[in-house]
Amino acid sequence: MVAVRGVTKRFSTAAGDIDALSPVDLDIAAREFVSIIGPSGCGKSTLLRILAGLEQPTTGKITWDTQPGGNRVGFVFQEPVLLPWKSALANVCFALEAFGIKGEEATAKGRRLLELVGLEQFADALPRQLSGGMRQRVSIARALSYDPGILLMDEPFGALDLLTRDKLNDELADIWAKTGKTIVLVTHSVEEAAYLSDRVVVMSARPGSIKRIYEVPFVRPRSEATKLLPEFHRLMADLRQDLK
Ligand SMILES: Nc1ncnc2c1ncn2[C@@H]1O[C@H](COP(=O)(O)OP(=O)(O)OP(=O)(O)O)[C@@H](O)[C@H]1O
Ligand SMILES: [Mg+2]
Repeated sequence: MVAVRGVTKRFSTAAGDIDALSPVDLDIAAREFVSIIGPSGCGKSTLLRILAGLEQPTTGKITWDTQPGGNRVGFVFQEPVLLPWKSALANVCFALEAFGIKGEEATAKGRRLLELVGLEQFADALPRQLSGGMRQRVSIARALSYDPGILLMDEPFGALDLLTRDKLNDELADIWAKTGKTIVLVTHSVEEAAYLSDRVVVMSARPGSIKRIYEVPFVRPRSEATKLLPEFHRLMADLRQDLK
């Protein structure tokens, strides 16, 4: 679906140049769930922003294939970025207008997406009336609203408590299965990466490059039982070792 070839990124600042990425090569298949993990400052967010087209690579290029929604990107940030004066439903529908979807059609689509993330009862609530986990669910619904081919998520659950995070991990796996989206997830959690992914990409310290890629073989749907498998613990230990 997307091919990253020889992508590097150099930021020029008043204090000098910062090499954030040394050449990165990565192929992501349609419907794949890929996690990216690596030490702080290794360029994970930079790579995601380049994939999203929010940042240009210094060298190298990104090639997309042409399937529907292929290079349309949904982005979920660590902190939910919602308009505080708009309801959950309005926040989800807000981006649709840019794609020519308005009125009843937009509202119906917004409601379907709120249902997908388990928030159909909270359509009229304002962001401040929702918990952190619920706000992040609204962000996910909004990112899906215009049918992107790929969902890019930058530590979306990093600010949540562990129980909420586990719950949202299961919901995300479910959303992924139902919608057939391609997902690229940046995370600091080796458990989250091992639990959700088809492949885990480990990056080295800055300038970030790909150190290793793990295939994650556990059958789906995964559950708490998956987390008890010796192979699951082995994978987490390997990932932790790679991050040292
Ligand atoms: N706009 C920018 N201008 C200058 N330097 C930048 C900019 N964005 C990122 N950097 C630098 O690039 C490097 C990689 O940053 P990036 O945010 O991609 O890291 P990260 O892997 O996402 O880290 P974290 O896990 O802490 O979120 C860092 O050294 C950072 O200071
Ligand atoms: Mg980051």
